[in-house]
Amino acid sequence: MSLRDLMAEAIAKAIDDAGCTALDIDTVIVGNMLGERLSGQAHLGALAASLLPHRPPALRAEAACASGSVAVHTACALLESGRAETVLVIGAEKMTDATNEVVAAGLMGAADADLDSPSGLTFPGIFGLITARYMHEWGLTREQLNLVSAKHHANAVLNPFAQFRTAIPAEKIGQSPLVADPLRLLDCSPVSDGAAAIILSTKTKSDVRLAASSLATDAVSITERPTITSFPASREAAERAYADAGLRPSDISVVELHDCFSIAALISLEDMGFASPGEGISLYSQEPDIAVNGTGGLKACGHPVAATGVKQIGDVCKQLRTGKKRYGLAQNFGGACATCCVHILEHA
Ligand code: COA
Repeated sequence: MSLRDLMAEAIAKAIDDAGCTALDIDTVIVGNMLGERLSGQAHLGALAASLLPHRPPALRAEAACASGSVAVHTACALLESGRAETVLVIGAEKMTDATNEVVAAGLMGAADADLDSPSGLTFPGIFGLITARYMHEWGLTREQLNLVSAKHHANAVLNPFAQFRTAIPAEKIGQSPLVADPLRLLDCSPVSDGAAAIILSTKTKSDVRLAASSLATDAVSITERPTITSFPASREAAERAYADAGLRPSDISVVELHDCFSIAALISLEDMGFASPGEGISLYSQEPDIAVNGTGGLKACGHPVAATGVKQIGDVCKQLRTGKKRYGLAQNFGGACATCCVHILEHA
C-alpha cells in the first residue's frame, strides 16, 4: 500500500466510527516525517484532502516521531481558536519499501545533523547509550529490561491492528540479536508502514473528550543535555497536561507511551510521575494499577513514525470505552525526546 492507500483506509475507518459525515470535516491535518525521502511524496495535506469529496483546507505537521501528536496539538489550537469546528487528523508513514540503511539515515533526521550524525550514531545507537547509562546509574539488569518488551508483546496478542501478535517470553528478548549494545532486536520498535486517523470536533457530541494537549521541547542533540536518563520535555509536557486537566498521575487508568526502545518506556513512566526515578521497572515486575501500552505499544504494534501519535490517541479512546475507565494519557515523542506531546482523554 502507498501512503495514499494507507491514508485512505484510515480516513474511511475514522469516518465510519465518528458521529459526523465526511462533509462535516472543515480542516485536514496530516502528520508525516519521511514522505519525500522514502516515497517521493510531499504535499500530504492536499493529498489527504483530495481523498474527501469536498477537499477541505489541509496542512501537514512534521516533528519526527512526534509528527502525529503534534498534528493533533495543532488541531486543538484551531478548534480552541474557533478557526475550525471539525478536524480530521491523520498520521501516516510508509517505511518498508526502502533499505534499512536508507530508513536509518532518514530517521537520523530527527537527531542533530551537526552534533550527532557525524559520529555514525543511529537511533538504536542513541538509545543504546541511554540504556547503558541508565543501567549504570540505577542498576537495571538485562533480565529486568526483558520484562518490558515481553509485556508489550503479550498485550498485542489480542490486538488485530498490531504488527506482531505473538507472545514472546522474557528470556527470548535477552537472547535476540544484539543491535546496539546493550539493546537487542526485541528491545527495538520495528520499521513499519501504517496510518491512523481521528476526528476532533467542537460541534459533534462524543462520550470522549480531550482534557489536555500539551507540547514541550528540548535540545535536539543528546550532547546538549545534562542527563540522558530523564527527558525534561516529557516531564514538562506531562506536568502541564495534568495541570490543564486538573489531574494527578494517580487519576490516570490507561497509558499509551512512546516505547521506541524498551528503556524509553521506563524513563517515560518516571518522567510522567507513574514511578520514582530508577523505579519504572516496578510497573513491569509487579501488577500495576494502570494499563501501560495495553495495545502492545510501539514495540509490538509497530512504529510507522508519524502514525504512532495519532494511533495512541485512538487506542486510549478505545481502551477507556471498553474498560469503562475515566482518564487516559497518550505520550508521543520525537528524536531522543526533543519534542514531546502529552494528551489526556476523559471518558464520560
Ligand atoms: N520486534 C519483533 N520482531 C522483529 C522486530 C521487532 N522490533 N524487528 C524485526 N523483527 C523480526 C522480523 O519480522 C524478522 O522475522 P522473520 O525473519 O521471521 O521474518 C526478523 O525479526 C528479522 O527482522 P529484520 O527486519 O531482518 O531485522 P533488521 O535487522 O533488518 O532490523 C532493527 C531490526 C531493530 C535494526 C530495525 O527494526 C530498526 O532499526 N528499528 C528501530 C527503528 C527506529 O529507530 N525507529 C525510530 C525510533 S526513535
